[in-house]
Amino acid sequence: MSTPTSETTPLSQIQTIVDMTFEKYRNVDDGEVATYIPELGKADPKDFGICIVTVDGNVFRAGDWDKEFTIQSMCKPFAFQMALEQRGMEATHRHVGVEPSGDAFNSIELDPKTTRPFNPMINAGAIAVASLIKKSPVEAGIHAFVETMSRAAGRDLRIDEAVMESESLTGNRNRAIAYLMRNFSIIDDHVGDSLKQYFAQCSLLVNCMDMATMAATLANMGSNPVTGDRVFDFQFIKRTLTVMFTCGLYDYAGGWAYEVGLPAKSGVGGGIFGVVNRQLGIGVYSPKLDAQGNSVRGILACKELAQHFGLHAFEFTNVGSSFTQWLL
Ligand code: DON
Repeated sequence: MSTPTSETTPLSQIQTIVDMTFEKYRNVDDGEVATYIPELGKADPKDFGICIVTVDGNVFRAGDWDKEFTIQSMCKPFAFQMALEQRGMEATHRHVGVEPSGDAFNSIELDPKTTRPFNPMINAGAIAVASLIKKSPVEAGIHAFVETMSRAAGRDLRIDEAVMESESLTGNRNRAIAYLMRNFSIIDDHVGDSLKQYFAQCSLLVNCMDMATMAATLANMGSNPVTGDRVFDFQFIKRTLTVMFTCGLYDYAGGWAYEVGLPAKSGVGGGIFGVVNRQLGIGVYSPKLDAQGNSVRGILACKELAQHFGLHAFEFTNVGSSFTQWLL
């Protein structure tokens, strides 16, 4: 690893570290592309992209940063944010908790103490959240979701119809989870519409730069740092980031928090995005997944970037809360 020289600018030093991270892991070939949704199996296993967007709008990128893939479970924090904004905390939490489950993303389980899904990052919680933000007709809720996500990305996004179809055709496990929740009145009678909303959300096409920009929008108190558009209500963002931090990587959530230390979310399409509050967003893409369903090179790249830039939430250089301002 070369040390940046005095002739380089801070921005070019950041780009150099992004480039070095890409080069270091570009030939890692471990993991498997997800095939349980047949359309996902068509991903090119060689694809690997990295993007960082800062809250002042600087962009750093490497590799296949503009290659599109479906957002999959990375839609879950944004849908949760929308539910909090539309319904408020109390009403939202009648339908979903905030406890890590420590189980796989597609577990057919509810919290036995409350009969709610454990959290909004696992499928059960995400379907409950989809049920809260769906509209009638169902197309209106899907359109509203795509519209908000497009504003967060700063460009018009669209749904991959073939993936959405494939999700639905193979979605019997999600149907089982949804009907279990219907039984406990966690979701309403429009079970099919809740599932449609969820399948559509997962099928949104994004690239690394979209994910990094959306992450930077969360980091930037809800305003897209490139377009200046106020997309999300800042008062709920700390709630969204919290469930990402504790539950975003499923049964690797503890290891991730320990080693990388960022609120983040993965998807079976091969994406991972992470947020450094008030600083930047990261989006990485590589479709080969580990046993927990997280991108192998995505995890390696995030670990490397977090270490180089000191991004861990509890890094000693990070002053954290605003408490000390009271002492000034
Ligand atoms: O529910 C499913 O099976 C997918 N559409 C989303 C799952 C997903 O991305 C899990 N994440 N790692």
